[in-house]
Amino acid sequence: MDNFLELCRRRRSIRNYADRAVEKDKLDRILQCALMSPSGKRMNPWEFYVTDNRALIGRLQSCKQAGATMLKTAPVVVAVALDTSLIDTWQADGAIAAQNILLAAEDEGLGACWCHVYQRDEAEQVVRREMGIPAHLTVLCLISIGYKNEERRQYELEKLNYQKVHFVS
Ligand SMILES: Cc1cc2nc3c(=O)[nH]c(=O)nc-3n(C[C@H](O)[C@H](O)[C@H](O)COP(=O)(O)O)c2cc1C
Repeated sequence: MDNFLELCRRRRSIRNYADRAVEKDKLDRILQCALMSPSGKRMNPWEFYVTDNRALIGRLQSCKQAGATMLKTAPVVVAVALDTSLIDTWQADGAIAAQNILLAAEDEGLGACWCHVYQRDEAEQVVRREMGIPAHLTVLCLISIGYKNEERRQYELEKLNYQKVHFVS
């Protein structure tokens, strides 16, 4: 692993994956990173549903009309589901866990992409049905993970929009 700035520069959404399985030890470390995510009042409202079943992932691809292309080739998918009754910060908690997964995947030499599910058409129903996610959990997103089959340019520090940063004294 190199330094965190370089990791953030390299991490891009990867939507095209090589036909190569993700090793179990890599996936285990990625999930460990998810389980160490901070959450409001440490309620840990997330549940992670993981699959490497290509037939299932193919069915997940139909969960919405656009924005799910990454599922066409993804060898692994993680659904980030939240128990919204536990804490009102659930959406932030889920997003942080998802970001840990995205960064951990990059750190393992893999690519990943967020596929949004929450409040997207019928997507949540499809994902819940296909992955057996119980009704009391809300599905925030699917994260596709796999070896990259596309080149994405890394971020250039000189081109970042520093006007988004407001120093206040
Ligand atoms: C909340 C959220 C929802 C997203 N939903 C989708 C999606 O449904 N489909 C998709 O292809 N990418 C999705 N993305 C990925 C974004 O398009 C991507 O992060 C953005 O274009 C910046 O590119 P980068 O990740 O390569 O830096 C989502 C990202 C976030 C943070």
